[in-house]
Amino acid sequence: MSKTRHVVAAVEEVPPGSRKRLSLEGREIALFNLAGEFFALGDKCPHESGSLCAGKIIGLAAADEPGKYRLERDGEFVKCPWHGWEFDIRTGQSWCDPALTRVRVYEAHVEQGETLVKGPFVADTYPVSLEHNYIVIEV
Ligand code: FES
Repeated sequence: MSKTRHVVAAVEEVPPGSRKRLSLEGREIALFNLAGEFFALGDKCPHESGSLCAGKIIGLAAADEPGKYRLERDGEFVKCPWHGWEFDIRTGQSWCDPALTRVRVYEAHVEQGETLVKGPFVADTYPVSLEHNYIVIEV
């Protein structure tokens, strides 16, 4: 089954470190900007359906020995606001149970307005202009 491409926002609307909640084809999606890279996750925690878009953005605490902690991958994980399960924004995998628990990941990337206006893609959810860049999600 082919996927549908949706133009969901101008790049400037979702600055680095921010997120945006979307509804596409009946699916709730959380779009995140990690330092200029865009990632789209299903906005439904696999535990009890909490909204990941409303979660706190965090990093990982790592330690090589007791009492010596450091922060890694700061800003690349989201913590579910309901019970605190943590997910890798890049992959949708649960940090505690990566083999069995994950949230759905959708393809998200940036395209120039000029490309989108020419087609064959349809900007069905967002008006585009030639001079801007836009975030496109495939569902
Ligand atoms: S609903 Fe997300 S941790 Fe419980």
